[in-house]
Amino acid sequence: MTPRKGIILAGGTGSRLWPITLGVSKQLLPIYDKPMIYYPISALMLTGIRDIAIITTPHDQEQFKRTLGDGAQWGLNLTYITQPTPDGLAQAYLLAEDFLNGAASAMVLGDNIFFGQGLPQLLQEADTQTGGGTVFAYHVADPERYGVVAFDDADKVVEIIEKPAKPPSPYAVTGLYFLDGTAPQRARHIKPSARGELEIADLLQSYLTDGSLNVKRMGRGYAWLDTGTHESLLDASNFVRTLEKRQGLQTGSLEEIAFEKGWIDRAALAERARIYAKNAYGEYLQALLDADNWQP
Ligand code: TTP
Repeated sequence: MTPRKGIILAGGTGSRLWPITLGVSKQLLPIYDKPMIYYPISALMLTGIRDIAIITTPHDQEQFKRTLGDGAQWGLNLTYITQPTPDGLAQAYLLAEDFLNGAASAMVLGDNIFFGQGLPQLLQEADTQTGGGTVFAYHVADPERYGVVAFDDADKVVEIIEKPAKPPSPYAVTGLYFLDGTAPQRARHIKPSARGELEIADLLQSYLTDGSLNVKRMGRGYAWLDTGTHESLLDASNFVRTLEKRQGLQTGSLEEIAFEKGWIDRAALAERARIYAKNAYGEYLQALLDADNWQP
């Protein structure tokens, strides 16, 4: 069976971040010391996925290519797809249909950041599920901004409701969707919602109706940040800065993950350390090389 492929949805309007995003794509804005899109890419890499499609607006694609290239520097294979107009999250599966070519996928929104002890295991577990889908439910203070999970009395998920005025629970569905190879075909049957979008909630509902959607709770030991507003953008940067400063370890370093996974060798890592030698990112990569030297 073809290994699961990755999709990063990095188009959209970013209107909540105007005027910043009038001239630059939201997903290329900095989250402390890296472009935002590094973090969702790292989530796919931690899952073990190397074949990834990046969906962007037509006018921003060039900047993404300049920032990420073909992905070979991280042992990845990146494919670029454009979304002519932001017609909804579920449209990604139609745009990526040829790329997926029947394979299962993990899609992550380009402005979502995940962090937590045991995250790689959680992701790899979702990856091993062969049929149906897996999504994660996360307790949030403002569920009305998201797709919200409705549970019945037996704690079984009955519905996922997009941006409900009266949320049926505090559990939002995070922007990370593990779906089987039927997703594009299901997406074709979705009708645009009242706001004119192909809603991911409707796609998930199709799996739910079949009894093939696994909704896993992502507990309070994890951080799920989305960075779509001025405040949450700054919060995410501060979060990453606080962690990195305290631990001396990076989160979202694509070179580190690729090196640990054996997808790039020492020479490739050394080359990246050399390119960034003038700043803390390069020093960090150099320290990884030095630490690797000490290993028996
Ligand atoms: P949103 O945050 O819902 O939308 P947005 O990024 O356009 O921002 P705003 O509401 O401020 O105008 O989108 C979530 C993610 O999905 C984000 O990374 C952008 C992406 N997206 C697309 O790539 N295509 C789409 O059609 C939509 C709706 C979103």
